[in-house]
Amino acid sequence: MVKVILATSLCKYFEIDEVIVEAIKDVDLTIEEGEFIAIYGPSGAGKTTLLNLIGALDKPTSGKVVVFDHDLGAYGENFLATFRSAYVGFVFQSYNLISTLTALENIAFVVELAGWERERIKNRSESLLKLFGLEHRANHFPAQLSGGERQRVAFARALANDPPLLLADEPTGNLDTETGLEIVNILKQIKEEGKTVIVATHDEKLLKLADRSLCLKDGRLTE
Ligand SMILES: Nc1ncnc2c1ncn2[C@@H]1O[C@H](COP(=O)(O)OP(=O)(O)OP(=O)(O)O)[C@@H](O)[C@H]1O
Ligand SMILES: [Mg+2]
Repeated sequence: MVKVILATSLCKYFEIDEVIVEAIKDVDLTIEEGEFIAIYGPSGAGKTTLLNLIGALDKPTSGKVVVFDHDLGAYGENFLATFRSAYVGFVFQSYNLISTLTALENIAFVVELAGWERERIKNRSESLLKLFGLEHRANHFPAQLSGGERQRVAFARALANDPPLLLADEPTGNLDTETGLEIVNILKQIKEEGKTVIVATHDEKLLKLADRSLCLKDGRLTE
């Protein structure tokens, strides 16, 4: 099996007003290609921090995180931006859509950054909107969308450049049961496509869908 993620003695500390928060402590973790992993644990346990480290949005304080053979702590921001664009789709805990861009533009933006040509950007963004049943919302701004619609735009955006790794932070956390089910089904399809998926979640349905569940507590993994 191909190892997609290898973390060794991974630590992330934040220092605020001389108080040190140990958000991730000594985490060792191996995730293989195509695995669907759920990370659960209490609020403040470090779930978002761990996803940010794996997705190259944050750098380790010590230890290592190697993703697709790249030791992420060893690179500068320019390379990391290129790395993210090529390898990682991120669905954030609070959607993080750009409020001044329409649904279509929020998706197009990702492949514009990746350097795609105009016609291809248009085709890709439109077909993703359609795939997620949002073609009638193309020109709506995030504030004009429901929570479930925003979350579907966030998934479409995360998948726009067809990344092999998808990270989703509490993707059903703010949604009602029915809309949450839609998202579970989307994740099921993504899993079937063979992508590696890591979700931070408390949702029983997602925990059931996962090949493995990992429990984080006070920054440590306890299986
Ligand atoms: N940028 C930051 N600066 C300072 N402290 C931070 C930062 N990000 C996270 N923390 C702290 O690190 C710890 C872990 O936070 P994190 O957001 O990873 O938890 P979480 O498990 O995702 O929680 P939740 O379930 O509420 O989303 C918390 O104590 C938090 O206050
Ligand atoms: Mg979080």
